[in-house]
Amino acid sequence: MERKEISKAVISRLPRYYRYLGELIEEGVERISSNELSARMKVTASQIRQDLNNFGGFGQQGYGYNVKYLYSEIARILGIDQQHNLIIIGAGNLGQAIANYTNFERRGFVIKGMFDINPKLIGLVIRGIEVRSVDDLEHFIRENEIQIAALTIPKTKAPEIAQRLVNAGIKAIWNFAHTDLVVPEGVVVENVHLSESLMRLSYRVCSMYDQEPEKIK
Ligand code: NAI
Repeated sequence: MERKEISKAVISRLPRYYRYLGELIEEGVERISSNELSARMKVTASQIRQDLNNFGGFGQQGYGYNVKYLYSEIARILGIDQQHNLIIIGAGNLGQAIANYTNFERRGFVIKGMFDINPKLIGLVIRGIEVRSVDDLEHFIRENEIQIAALTIPKTKAPEIAQRLVNAGIKAIWNFAHTDLVVPEGVVVENVHLSESLMRLSYRVCSMYDQEPEKIK
């Protein structure tokens, strides 16, 4: 299927549409107008129409959007209508928290294995997922059709592991280590930094009250 170039801003909004549409399905709503969706999502109806028009527009004048159809089309666009096999490198606090979160599987992200260097963690089974030695990394990736690797290791170790992942054929890195990875073309990195999100929150609360945080009561 031909894929039209879609702006990053639109792509970044799609998961939110997907979440709202999922809730509508649960409520038994079959169709919704851009105005109703706008009221729920607190974005303008014209933004919704513009965003969804990127994909040929799923709405019909006077009918609105078919919720199930839109939901499944967004899933297809995001590629979450198919299974993605995932591994986690670093079975510490964060790695284990991700492994324990069951909802990723509902979205098609199946955690196949975890890897660590700590002998105390190797052999541990977390929600049915075995922690293996990082020595087995390349072999495991090839044998299990792994597409995505989550990096939850210290930042000093991340570049070397990222290089090994790329050499083993990994095309997507979900990077939690606080470092910017350099990867070749054809490999994508999605950085997730909770502290950056907190800093943005700090900026917003400080600028809203136009004062330093300790003065905010
Ligand atoms: P942790 O110390 O509990 O876990 C790190 C694990 O990585 C340990 O089990 C360690 O043995 C393992 N490890 C170290 N080198 C390795 C290697 N070469 N190969 C495989 N495993 C290796 O730390 P925690 O709290 O789980 O944090 C992990 C990383 O994620 C840290 O770099 C931390 O700064 C970062 N972090 C990022 C967040 C974010 O929002 N992006 C939030 C919290 C932590």
